[in-house]
Amino acid sequence: MPKKLKKIKTPPKARLAQKGGKKIKDEKLVMGKGLDIGTSFVECAEKKGEKIIFKRQRNAFFEIEYTDFTKRMLAKSKVKYIQKENKLYIVGDEAIKFANMFNRDTRRPLSRGVISPSEKEALPMIGLLIKSVVGAPKYEGEIIYYSVPGEPVDADFDIVYHQNVLSEMLKRLDYTPKSINEGLAIVLSELEEEKFTGIGLSFGGGMVNVCLSCLSVPVFTFSIAKAGDWIDQQVARAIDERATRVCAIKESTLDLTKKEHLSKVEQALSIYYNHLIEYVISHIKSVFEETKKMPRIEKPITIILSGGTALPRGFLERFKQLLRKADFPLGVGEIKMASQPLFSVAKGALIAAISDEGKRKKG
Ligand SMILES: Nc1ncnc2c1ncn2[C@@H]1O[C@H](COP(=O)(O)OP(=O)(O)OP(=O)(O)O)[C@@H](O)[C@H]1O
Ligand SMILES: [Mg+2]
Repeated sequence: MPKKLKKIKTPPKARLAQKGGKKIKDEKLVMGKGLDIGTSFVECAEKKGEKIIFKRQRNAFFEIEYTDFTKRMLAKSKVKYIQKENKLYIVGDEAIKFANMFNRDTRRPLSRGVISPSEKEALPMIGLLIKSVVGAPKYEGEIIYYSVPGEPVDADFDIVYHQNVLSEMLKRLDYTPKSINEGLAIVLSELEEEKFTGIGLSFGGGMVNVCLSCLSVPVFTFSIAKAGDWIDQQVARAIDERATRVCAIKESTLDLTKKEHLSKVEQALSIYYNHLIEYVISHIKSVFEETKKMPRIEKPITIILSGGTALPRGFLERFKQLLRKADFPLGVGEIKMASQPLFSVAKGALIAAISDEGKRKKG
């Protein structure tokens, strides 16, 4: 990442990109892409003219037995799949439809924010999903920033393998890959007016990611290996329900402002939401206390909340309320939701990529 992020210049209207003899002409091409590889979703952002276009796929797959007939049906309906020995693997959004049809669960290439160590088919599946959202580069070697989680503070794994495997995959697709911390991407996406200073928080499926940034430079980043999936599992266990059903209720009707007449699931969801938010705040406090070289930040800092787990009504209020109780060590100004909570990581990665492309052009 650049030490200080330059403001993005509007690219020239018509550009001729060339490298290695390839030429592509497009009136509205803006070089650079941003990719968010999350436990639940994979998202790619690119700019066309002034507009940011997002492509999104479920990070999931579903296995069915191979027959010639099934294969022809899948190909005809343009379903993304991989054939391996006597199996067909349906990948992305359609995997959910098939799983519902067969009343089974999908499998996931990622677990707790990184490539799943126990899923033997993880790599080809994530490869296909990435290819389907990023498409071809606009020129050979186009810069793509992809998100990586911070080091987990509460689990015994690192992100080295994950980061390197993804980088190799993107290189094979003719991109120049660069990684960006997920929390920092949120800061880049949402805090331009605050000179990229503040805390970016993403409450995802597998993880919560945190970054305190000062002028676009991360002061600390870390992740917590508990988030939406963990809430589903804990609630399911507490009330003896299937996690898939808990998740469906959580995503469709959960209202954290509701105080009375809560169903058993709603009550349990509310309890575990509280637990997760308190857990995150307590880790921010302890990482802050351990950070030796804290820059002097003059103004109270802004906190940005994003990610699918932050979507239920009342989440922002719940977070503010628990932070007030927590004796937080930093002066906090505004606390707000990201403008597009599901897309801010991809958007922040895109901002970094366009900035680097701009420098590459000048240099
Ligand atoms: N409307 C909603 N209400 C509550 N939870 C939701 C909603 N929509 C999605 N979720 C939950 O958000 C999580 C996915 O969020 P997100 O897409 O931000 O994660 P991710 O980036 O793929 O994962 P991670 O960042 O943890 O690797 C899942 O747990 C999902 O159940
Ligand atoms: Mg995420």
